Amino acid sequence: MSIGEDLEGFQLQLEIFRRKYLQMLDPNEIDFPMEWFIKLPATQQWIYDHMFNPEKIKTLPYPDYAFRILKRLLYILEAAMKDPEEDEISDDLANCFAQLLTRKAKDGLELIQEKRPVTYTAPVLSGDPPTVTILEAPNLLTSNGDTGNRTWDAALFLATFLSTDGRHFVQDKSILELGAGLGFVSVLCGKHLGARHVLVTDASEGVLYTAQQNARLNGIDDIVNTSVLEWGTQDVDRVYHNGDEAVSYDLLLGSDMLYQPRDFPALMSTLHDLFSHNPKLQMLISSAVRREETLDSFLHCCRKNFFHVERVLIDPLPEKEQLGFFHSTFYEIHIYLITKQRRLMTNGREFLDLMLGDHEDTGGPKTCVSETSD
Ligand SMILES: C[S@@+](CC[C@H](N)C(=O)[O-])C[C@H]1O[C@@H](n2cnc3c(N)ncnc32)[C@H](O)[C@@H]1O
Repeated sequence: MSIGEDLEGFQLQLEIFRRKYLQMLDPNEIDFPMEWFIKLPATQQWIYDHMFNPEKIKTLPYPDYAFRILKRLLYILEAAMKDPEEDEISDDLANCFAQLLTRKAKDGLELIQEKRPVTYTAPVLSGDPPTVTILEAPNLLTSNGDTGNRTWDAALFLATFLSTDGRHFVQDKSILELGAGLGFVSVLCGKHLGARHVLVTDASEGVLYTAQQNARLNGIDDIVNTSVLEWGTQDVDRVYHNGDEAVSYDLLLGSDMLYQPRDFPALMSTLHDLFSHNPKLQMLISSAVRREETLDSFLHCCRKNFFHVERVLIDPLPEKEQLGFFHSTFYEIHIYLITKQRRLMTNGREFLDLMLGDHEDTGGPKTCVSETSD
């Protein structure tokens, strides 16, 4: 390998370091650049400009996290300083650390409620890769059981698919996301993947309030709207109007929403309503397989309700090889395409459905008693 190729490898490592930092991954999951490379004045300047300089970065990670990363970085830098004549820690990094050190401590409640900007970078290697910044309050999870206040691995995996092989599902489409939480996937579709219009829905008004903030933060609140939609209720009637305008949808999205089998009959009822407005509707649903029985129970409900379900075959990259939208591979994540009509492949053969109903669809949602308890 030539020195040039070597350097390219280290620059890539530096860029991945930056992306993981902006996504606020646990510091233990972040590989710090090599000592000899990190101590170069140009590398230190790059790190300051691209990771810590408030004048250059619109949405920096919250100070406690920045402090932890910078502390570790300075520790590595100090260890790398072998020649006092030549080696030097950059003033910018040292001053930034001093400022973070004197930051005001927050009380417990403030820390729980604080919304922190998390920036997700698409897994592409272009000079200016697409990013989405989402305000998240992950500590609210434990305080009131609201699962929607952070972005889950299934959403990141779906985003990876939509930004690569699955772009055609989104381009020029009108989209509704169910159980969307803070709206990461919706915002990505509106900001970078060419969606015409996106409606972010969820049962929780609280997460939708933040989802609307997120649309604004990413400069796309003209095409991304929010609406409360609790599955199995009449909320669904509201989604067909945007002010005076009638709206129809081409694509439904959902991620990490299949964890409570007792909710599946209500979900089926909402899907039935949405598909009866447009039988050509498609749905992509992404789910971490925490319990196989739960997923089986969902597929059983789909079969009962005459939905065709195909698994989208996409190989997840091991964590160390991911370039962006970093997600855990601890659980398998499956993506399914759900339709009402059989689709024809270009050569005229039908797609093989994973799940086919035994009878003709006679309309109306069918009760599906979940096969597992939660
Ligand atoms: C685990 S979070 C997933 C959030 C987001 N889709 C993601 O993957 O990052 C599940 C979301 O589904 C919503 N949800 C749960 N049950 C629901 C229901 N019956 N109707 C509508 N939304 C529901 C929750 O409020 C929460 O925001």
